[in-house]
Formats: sequence, C-alpha cells, structure tokens
Amino acid sequence: MTPSTSTFTARLNEAAGVVEASLEALLSDKAEQGEIARPARLMAAMRHGALGGGKRLRPFLAIETARLFGKTGEGPLRAGCAVELLHCYSLVHDDLPSMDDDDLRRGRPTVHKAYDEATAILVGDALQTLAFEVLADPETDSDPAIRSDLVLGLARASGLGGMVGGQMLDLAAEGRYGAADLGEADVRLLQMMKTGAILTFSVEAGAILGRADAATRRRLVEYGRALGAAFQVADDILDRESSAEALGKRTGKDLEKGKATLVDLLGLDGARRECRHLVEKAEAALDGFGPPADTLREAVRFVVERQV
Ligand code: IPE
Ligand code: IPE
Ligand code: MG
Ligand code: MG
Ligand code: MG
Repeated sequence: MTPSTSTFTARLNEAAGVVEASLEALLSDKAEQGEIARPARLMAAMRHGALGGGKRLRPFLAIETARLFGKTGEGPLRAGCAVELLHCYSLVHDDLPSMDDDDLRRGRPTVHKAYDEATAILVGDALQTLAFEVLADPETDSDPAIRSDLVLGLARASGLGGMVGGQMLDLAAEGRYGAADLGEADVRLLQMMKTGAILTFSVEAGAILGRADAATRRRLVEYGRALGAAFQVADDILDRESSAEALGKRTGKDLEKGKATLVDLLGLDGARRECRHLVEKAEAALDGFGPPADTLREAVRFVVERQV
C-alpha cells in the first residue's frame, strides 16, 4: 500500500466513523418533534439495515466534494447521511425475495431474513422518507433554496428516472419480462440509472452545499458519472470473481440469473479496461481542481481497485 492509499483509507474510515454516529442518532427510538411515535420493531430493523456496515462511500463523496469549497461540518455530514439512508433503503429492497432474493448483506442476514418481508418493505419506505426529511431540515443548511436543490437532486437521482428506473431495467435484463438481449448501450444506461445516479448525486450534493458555480458543478457531475459507471463495472467484476466471505454478500448472482452485464459483453479483461478508461475520464473531469481534489482522484481509483 502506498503512503497516499493508506492516507486515503484512513480518511474513508474516519468519515465512516462520523457517519455511523450520525446515523445512530438519526435512528434512535426517541420520536422527533412532529412525529407521533417510533415503533420499536421498525426502529430495530432500520438500524439493522443501516448501521454497522458498508463502506459509506456516498457520504464520503459528499463530504470530500464540499471540502473542495471549504465547506465542512454538519451540513455535508447530514447530506451524506441522507444519501446513505437512501442507499440503504435501495439495498434492503434490492435483497427482497421478489427482487434479488439475497440472504446476506454486509456480512449479516438481510433485513427480511432477520425480521420478515413486510418489515423489510417498511424499513425501506421509512429509510427513504427519513433521507428526504434530513435534507429538508434547516440543520442541513440555513438557506431554503439550497435545501430545495438537495431534495430535488436526490428525488431525481433516486426515483423513476434514476435508481428505481434502473432497478426496473435491471429486472428486465434478467429476462423476466421476455427476452432481454441487451447491448452495451443498454447495459450502460441501466447501470447509469441503478447505481450511477445516486453516486453522482453524492458528489453533486457537495457541490450544492459548497455553492459551486454552474460550470464547476457540471465538471463535478461529469466526475461523478464516470465514478458511478466505474463503480458498477467493478461490482459486476466482483460478483463474478470474488467470494461471499470476502464481499459480505452472495456472488455469482448475475451469471446465475443470466443478467446481462459488461463482464458478459466485454469479458473480464474488457471490463477491467473499461474501468481504467472510466478512471481516466473521472480524473480528466477534475483537471484544474489541483491538489485539493486529490482525495476525489483517489476515490475513483479506490472504486475500481476495491475488494469489498
Ligand atoms: C452495493 O453498493 C450496491 C450497488 C450499488 C452495486 P456498495 O458496494 O457501496 O455497498 P456498501 O454500502 O458498501 O455495503
Ligand atoms: C443494486 O445492484 C443496485 C441498487 C441497490 C440500486 P446489485 O443488485 O448488483 O447490488 P448487489 O450486488 O446486490 O449489492
Ligand atoms: Mg439488484
Ligand atoms: Mg442485488
Ligand atoms: Mg451486484
């Protein structure tokens, strides 16, 4: 490990620590002002789905992007937690029997295994609404226009034209609704939606909080898109090559379900080449940001080299 990788890992772990503490506070049993009550079973299952695991890459991207603009502290941390809550909801639903039917997530039983399917559906619903509540809260930013921009961005990234839409295409890619026969462009679109959109928004959230001008924000979105694409190609490579022990989730699923991925279409070497190309693309988008963007440069390399 080079000195800069170990610094990067230390920074990622440090962010994961503060994110964990913040999520714990957000998921306490105590009802917040304006809520009626927090049912104990729901809260325990939400904590199971959101605490004690995960790389916390999305909050890290929000925090590190905001830092480019000198913005640190509660705002970026809360925005990062909102994206993480949304991500955890997407995982809980992704693992459901009617979706990917997985028993293992982050090295532990999935929420529907540890509780039951109905509870897991509600956990996803409640994590999602909590994500938006966190963004809309004045503690995230005192400027209502900034909060509204964050809410709009997360809604677009996670909804019908983003993650949820991508999950629909992903199910269709298994051939559930008739022969799929996906080409490279179809797979790229599916991945940009199911995974890329939320990762891109994680970066954009930092730019929004940092009051980036339109051109700077566009560059960062370009960076986020390349990173997001690289992330899913790496996930598909890991699904093919890694093990449940190493990853904390079942592997070999894509092949088993006959799901079209870039690993199928390009082969493992081709998929690795694609990752390298996407890293270069992400780095190019950061041209002109100088040394302050080194952590974001490292982040995209981490995404393709990760073993978890
Ligand atoms: C896994 O995301 C699901 C995909 C979007 C491919 P991560 O690999 O970021 O999962 P955690 O949060 O670290 O568990
Ligand atoms: C999941 O993609 C993407 C979302 C949860 C939106 P996968 O189904 O490939 O993720 P894993 O492999 O189960 O983590
Ligand atoms: Mg899936
Ligand atoms: Mg899955
Ligand atoms: Mg996968």
